[in-house]
Amino acid sequence: MAGITIYPDSRSLVEGAAGRIAELASRSVAERGRFTIALSGGATPRPVYARIAEDDLAGRIDWPSVHVFFGDERCVPPDDERSNYRMAGEALLATVALPRDNVHRIHGEDDPAQAALACEQEMQRLFRTSQTPALDLILLGMGGDGHAASLFPGTAALRERERWVVPQYVGALAVWRVTFTAALINAARHIIFLVEGAGKAETLCRVLEGPYEPDVLPAQLIQPVAGELHWLVDAPAAARLRPGRWA
Ligand code: 6PG
Repeated sequence: MAGITIYPDSRSLVEGAAGRIAELASRSVAERGRFTIALSGGATPRPVYARIAEDDLAGRIDWPSVHVFFGDERCVPPDDERSNYRMAGEALLATVALPRDNVHRIHGEDDPAQAALACEQEMQRLFRTSQTPALDLILLGMGGDGHAASLFPGTAALRERERWVVPQYVGALAVWRVTFTAALINAARHIIFLVEGAGKAETLCRVLEGPYEPDVLPAQLIQPVAGELHWLVDAPAAARLRPGRWA
C-alpha cells in the first residue's frame, strides 16, 4: 500500500521532503552504517537537494557514510545542462562533505549499453551481491505522461525483469537514456515520489486511482517488494484525487 502526504504548496513540499530524506539518511547510517540513495532528475527535486545542503539538515548527515546513485541519466556529458548528475552536483553534491568515490554517476558520455553495465558492476562491487540490491532510498519524479525515472510508456525497459540498469532509446523524445529498471527500484527499502504542480493532477489521479495500465502509465510499475512507497505531493498535484481516500 502506498502512503501519500499532501502538502499545501511546493514550498512545504520541499521542506517536508528534505526533512524526510535527512531523517532516513540518519536512521540508515545509525542502523546499517551507511545510506545508499538514488537521486531523481528533472526540475522538482532540485530545490529539495538545495534544502538538504543547508547546514541544519546537511549537518545531521554523516556524508562519508552516504553513497549516491542516479535513478536515470540523460546520455549527455556530465557537464551538459541536461545532465542529472550536473543538476545534483550544483544543488547538493558539490557543497557537502561527500567523498568523490561515493558518487556513482551514470556515464552519460559513454555508449548507453556500456554505461548501464558499468553502473550495475559498480553496484555489485558496493553491495557485494549478485542479488538485486536494496538501496535505502530511491527518489522518483513522475512525468506528465506517467513515466518514472526513464521508464517511458511503450518502451522495452518496462518489461525488463532481470537487469538492474538498462539503456533505452526514447522515441517520443528522440533521445537515449540509461535507467534503473522497475526490478531494481522495487527492491528498495524506501521509494519516494516527488510530484508537484497542477499540470500533474490528471496523471497522478490516473496513476493512483485509475485502472492498472503500466505500459501507458509506467509509474504504476513502482510497487516495492518489501519496502515502503510514499508519494509526497503538493495540493495542486493532488487536486483530482478522491477526497479522504489517502491518509
Ligand atoms: C529525468 C527524471 C524524470 C523526472 C520526470 C519529472 O531524468 O528527467 O528522472 O523521470 O523525474 O520527468 O520531471 P519534473 O520534476 O521536471 O516534472
